[in-house]
Amino acid sequence: MKIYVPLDSAAKALGADEVADAIMSEAAARGIDVQVIRNGTRGMIWLEPLVELDQDGTRVGYGPVSVDDVPALLDGKLPSLGPVEEIPFLAKQTRLTFARVGVIDPLDLTDYEAHGGLAGLRRAIAMSGAEIVKEVTESGLRGRGGAGFPTGIKWNTVLGAEADQKYIVCNADEGDSGTFADRMVMEGDPFCLIEGMAIAGLGVGATKGYVYLRSEYPDAIAVMEEAVRRARSAGVLGKDVLGSGKAFDMEIRVGAGAYVCGEETSLLNSLEGKRGIVRAKPPLPALEGFLGKPTVVNNVLSLATVPVIFEKGAAHYAGFGLGRSKGTMPIQIAGNVKFGGLFETAFGMPLGTLVNDVAGGTASGRPVKAVQVGGPLGAYLHPDQFDTPFGYEEFDQAGGLIGHAGVVIFDDSADMLKMARFAMEFCAVESCGKCTPCRIGAVRGVETIDRIAEGDASAIPLLTDLCETMKDGSLCALGGFTPFPVMSALTHFPDDFARQKEAAE
Ligand SMILES: Cc1cc2nc3c(=O)[nH]c(=O)nc-3n(C[C@H](O)[C@H](O)[C@H](O)COP(=O)(O)O)c2cc1C
Ligand code: SF4
Repeated sequence: MKIYVPLDSAAKALGADEVADAIMSEAAARGIDVQVIRNGTRGMIWLEPLVELDQDGTRVGYGPVSVDDVPALLDGKLPSLGPVEEIPFLAKQTRLTFARVGVIDPLDLTDYEAHGGLAGLRRAIAMSGAEIVKEVTESGLRGRGGAGFPTGIKWNTVLGAEADQKYIVCNADEGDSGTFADRMVMEGDPFCLIEGMAIAGLGVGATKGYVYLRSEYPDAIAVMEEAVRRARSAGVLGKDVLGSGKAFDMEIRVGAGAYVCGEETSLLNSLEGKRGIVRAKPPLPALEGFLGKPTVVNNVLSLATVPVIFEKGAAHYAGFGLGRSKGTMPIQIAGNVKFGGLFETAFGMPLGTLVNDVAGGTASGRPVKAVQVGGPLGAYLHPDQFDTPFGYEEFDQAGGLIGHAGVVIFDDSADMLKMARFAMEFCAVESCGKCTPCRIGAVRGVETIDRIAEGDASAIPLLTDLCETMKDGSLCALGGFTPFPVMSALTHFPDDFARQKEAAE
């Protein structure tokens, strides 16, 4: 009997390790032959630990499973959720980047290949660097780390740069609030990221790669390190990638944990062993990046999407999506929500469909008040904006941003003035200190919001003015985008700012 129990850290936090142990000891006591496979998560966190039994090739789900449920599970008496793939939350998705996550044994390279793994790299090996870059450009892939910059254009700049050494750096700092997709890929399908980085290396002529991984992800670090070792011994990495005669190897580097170290130039400083402080651009990292050499810096999801683009073709990938937002986006649903987790879908789904239909509204059962999309620098969107479709340009027009597609839901008990204050305080705490509008502005911002909270309405125009200065004068998006959550809270939820005044009077 094959039983799948996730090794994903969200599932582990909910008891998956204990359940896996209980299954093995109960099976041993009964003398049953059970193979426990530790898979990635299917992304339905409210069902974790989600245990799957392979029944004649169909994976039937049970969850959430506790240690006490194990005897009934092995007796066949535990109520099931039916075939996992038919659970509506999963059935509604279009999984391209996450196609294998939750399906395979993450560290089994044979399982990886049996599910389409390495097909993309094999195809890329037969192509020239320029052809590889062209394929990525034609797929329409845009950076999934935050800015949505076209990946093909970035790769083309690195391809065209003359240098004795070039690098691929994977940004796995994943600092945005409510985001976890990078972690899920690294824990659930690490070879996919390795394959994507190898294709990037062959494309731009880089022989060395680094994954900059946050220290708060110990499970992802362990899985990635083991996957790199296995890929190297299988000849996927090394001096002769899959017998191509071309070299590409990589290492995992652990960041000490600062939000700003997710910003690409700050990340490069940190990777070089320096203080994580933002560098002025130009020069672009694509021309002078790691150790001053041309460097591709891409997010985990951007790089982990590359293999499927090469496996199925750029046109297949570009066939999904909306306008200039091509392909799919692994959306992360969190906060006060009934069904939280990972939902990958083609760009174009309206925000309201995601929040109400897919995520089932709030966990508290109270009305949704606000939704923050795009991490701590993303705007708070009002339910009036729920018809906004997921698309970079569409969100921009609505005064928001998609960023890394973290969606955090709040019910009507949320105080948006407090959320605005939190955004400013976050910026003050996490500021690298290089430029004045952010370093000083965020501190003044917290003080100004406190004045508003105390009933001083004359501080509102001051806050607006300060936000304009931070937007225009900051060196990077930490200071430059903090005004989005602050101003959206003020604009869409003015009562929360006025109510404080009445309360104070
Ligand atoms: C303050 C700040 C934090 C950031 N954090 C991350 C992060 O955790 N992960 C990430 O991929 N990009 C992050 N970014 C965006 C990166 O600077 C960069 O745009 C990205 O890594 C490029 O990869 P992509 O083109 O694949 O998105 C951050 C940017 C800023 C300004
Ligand atoms: S905006 Fe803030 S984080 Fe960015 S460079 Fe300026 S001080 Fe540093």
